[in-house]
Amino acid sequence: MKDYIIAGNWKMFKTAAESISFIQQLDQKLDAAGPYPEERIEVVVFPPFTSLYAVKEVSPRIKTGAQNFYFEEQGAYTGEISPLMLENIVDYVLIGHSERRQLFHESDENINKKIKVALVHRFTPVLCIGETLEERESGETFARIEAQLAKDLAGLTPGEAARVVIAYEPIWAIGTGRNASPEQAQEVHAFIRKILQEKTGAPGAMRILYGGSVKPENSFAILSQNDINGVLVGGASLKIDAFSVIIADSVKLLNSSIR
Ligand code: PGA
Repeated sequence: MKDYIIAGNWKMFKTAAESISFIQQLDQKLDAAGPYPEERIEVVVFPPFTSLYAVKEVSPRIKTGAQNFYFEEQGAYTGEISPLMLENIVDYVLIGHSERRQLFHESDENINKKIKVALVHRFTPVLCIGETLEERESGETFARIEAQLAKDLAGLTPGEAARVVIAYEPIWAIGTGRNASPEQAQEVHAFIRKILQEKTGAPGAMRILYGGSVKPENSFAILSQNDINGVLVGGASLKIDAFSVIIADSVKLLNSSIR
């Protein structure tokens, strides 16, 4: 089990050439805060599909993930990418990101199917959940989170649920510069851990990441929270200096007595 996962969701940014150059530089910066403890910190990038294969070849220390995929293995599904095509290329798959739910109308039913298919293909699914601003302001955050977990993880055995990484990403904090405070994030993470144990029977050691305007200014405080096992970074993961600082913060925390 890794102590931290530091993940970068590149969304629809970077050509293949830009991606390769970024990973070359990032690999060199991994040791910035002391020798990079590969067995305790997993750095993962989610590039566009067109960069995946090339990126995988550049650095064995940096893991790769797909931002999306379709749940069928093959067929007449123009424009889609299947899990078979991702085998031996990715370690992780992002499932249910709020942009996919909102812009591409992904349902909880499809998200649930994708999680099951991802597990069959031995990818680590990163399931994104989170509330809207209206839900937070009307006190519905916990109800929303609980409902998403129930639908998205329906039918999984405790052992299967334990293999899923959860990314808590409040929608109002994504790409807005407005992050949840470390305490707000910790509160929801503790709730997610409790619900997962109660409802899925998954062990308490499940990995739960925070996402939403994570940047060097807030990453140390966020990563130092008890129930936060890492971060899913969007905008700041596109900038080599910013992303390297966030990784360095996780190295510093592992080497300190805070956690
Ligand atoms: P952000 O994006 O860090 O730019 O807010 C996070 C995400 O969408 O995963």
